Amino acid sequence: MAKIAPSILAADFARLGEDVSDICSRGADYIHIDVMDGHFVPNISFGAAVMKSLRGIATVPFDVHLMIENPDKYLEEFITDNTEYITVHYEACDDLAATVRHIKEAGAKAGVSIKPGTDPSVLDEHLKDIDMVLVMSVEPGFGGQKFMDNSVPKIEYLKAKREEKGLDYMIEVDGGVGASNAYIVKDAGVDIIVAGSAVFKAEDRTQAINKIVEN
Ligand code: DX5
Ligand code: ZN
Repeated sequence: MAKIAPSILAADFARLGEDVSDICSRGADYIHIDVMDGHFVPNISFGAAVMKSLRGIATVPFDVHLMIENPDKYLEEFITDNTEYITVHYEACDDLAATVRHIKEAGAKAGVSIKPGTDPSVLDEHLKDIDMVLVMSVEPGFGGQKFMDNSVPKIEYLKAKREEKGLDYMIEVDGGVGASNAYIVKDAGVDIIVAGSAVFKAEDRTQAINKIVEN
């Protein structure tokens, strides 16, 4: 069964604590934290203070997605007892190997994300050091966009590489995934599905989560 990481970008920010507590009780495996800086992506979301305010509320780990330039400067602020993954963008790193080392030395698992226009083979030499690859299935920056199916062969590629090299990184997909199309990424071999609108805006959130993760 795939795991699910609901993105709080689609939550009601005026009731963020309640929304996070609710989603944890309905079977979320992680809370996906979308951090946007208005430079790497054309939108600003929230920073570490907002994430930290959820520490005593979330009962599942944080999966932090940094859509920011110069992630090395800020990533340590996002490492808490609740943080499992810190994911940076391949496109935002001058020295990816150094940033991956930095994340691990700071105490989190290291994720690397690729935008829709980036080929997964750029990560080949790094895969042995990475704990998770996040395949973007929308252009990062906004929730509620349409799923791009060029993410599917990327998931398949990463799964095949993992087997070929005997590695154990997780494969995550993010953007436009919901109950109606989750089977596509699950068939391709994804391990963790990020879903914002499809979960938080659902009439029945439990049902939405179950449909997304079930086999
Ligand atoms: C996009 C974010 C996603 C997004 C997912 O830049 O990284 O996590 O919020 O939202 P939905 O599921 O609504 O596409
Ligand atoms: Zn995200």
